[in-house]
Amino acid sequence: MSNRRYVIATIPGDGIGKEVIPVGQAAAEAVASRHGFSIEWRAFDWSCERYAETGRMMPEDGVEQVKGFDAIYLGAVGWPGVPDHVSLWGLLIPLRRELDQYANVRPVRLLKGVTSPLAGRGPEDIDFVVVRENVEGEYSEIGGRLYRGTAQETAVQEAVFTRRGTDRILDYAFELARTRPRKHVTSATKSNGIVHTMPFWDERFREASGRYPDVGTAQFHIDILTAHFVQHPDWFDVVVGSNLFGDILSDLGPAVAGSIGIAPSANLNPSRALPSMFEPVHGSAPDIAGQGVANPIAAVWTAAMMLDFLGEPEAAKTLEGAMEAVLTDPAARTRDLGGTADTRACGQAILKAIAG
Ligand code: NAI
Ligand code: MG
Repeated sequence: MSNRRYVIATIPGDGIGKEVIPVGQAAAEAVASRHGFSIEWRAFDWSCERYAETGRMMPEDGVEQVKGFDAIYLGAVGWPGVPDHVSLWGLLIPLRRELDQYANVRPVRLLKGVTSPLAGRGPEDIDFVVVRENVEGEYSEIGGRLYRGTAQETAVQEAVFTRRGTDRILDYAFELARTRPRKHVTSATKSNGIVHTMPFWDERFREASGRYPDVGTAQFHIDILTAHFVQHPDWFDVVVGSNLFGDILSDLGPAVAGSIGIAPSANLNPSRALPSMFEPVHGSAPDIAGQGVANPIAAVWTAAMMLDFLGEPEAAKTLEGAMEAVLTDPAARTRDLGGTADTRACGQAILKAIAG
């Protein structure tokens, strides 16, 4: 028996986050014991519920408290009554920034058993990864409002693109492409309309591509790129974009691959100096929260990404295999995928598939 052991902070958050994270934990524990390692969890109740009680999404030293963990496994945060910018800037953004999780990574794969909203597309057509710059770019706090409430009211918002920040996300995308069979990177730009930051991004992309002569490249303006995601999803392997463009593409990508209920994501600090954070793409789904019907697959796939990043690729593969087996069984699928199972039944089916 090996003594590989990972200590993971969980932040289930709000709504269905609290329903799907336990399923992901149980599945991760099951593969851990099959692959000879163990996981210790420590739960944090950071959420909108906590905000309602204390006025803060997390304690002032929240980031300090999770710095020492091997990873963070997060459900979803956000709840009606708490403005979304409060939940986002009070928890997710400080964690991503202060832990320097500069790469947001979302695999987009049409899995067997899932129907794409794109007619005539099968699993062989949709298999790419969206890499989003996660800590700078268009999402900056620089700017302000002048003459509030008057006819001259003015709002200014600055985008920030540093050479270090741009180069490291491009390098991450190229390195990732090297690990994939097609070895191809597409850059999202808008250098026709945005005349300072985007030509800079394009220059850095060209220079990065010189460092990876074995990786093919393409570049599209963001507007036509969104159309290509829908019309030609088979063109893409790794797609890299700034914070804003990556945000848009990383929601569109999972949408073309079927359901938001299965889409996983990672906020990576590739240096590993500080923990990375893993979260399903979906939010807290207030419309179905509390009913026990949420699809836990996104949380399970997210756990697989976490184990892979922690250095347990075989366990990650077992978990993904179990998930794919469940997706092809209508009785084990949840309602959002046209099945009849609830969260619990789907989770049980995953555990059964892991046990083999
Ligand atoms: P959402 O992802 O929570 O829900 C969108 C739709 O998808 C809803 O109809 C929901 O029922 C369905 N859905 C989502 N996940 C599902 C699952 N696992 N199984 C079955 N159906 C699922 O997005 P929405 O409604 O825009 O946001 C709700 C709250 O969540 C907001 O407060 C928002 O700010 C927050 N949010 C948080 C995120 C995060 O923590 N990273 C990401 C997105 C939204
Ligand atoms: Mg988004």
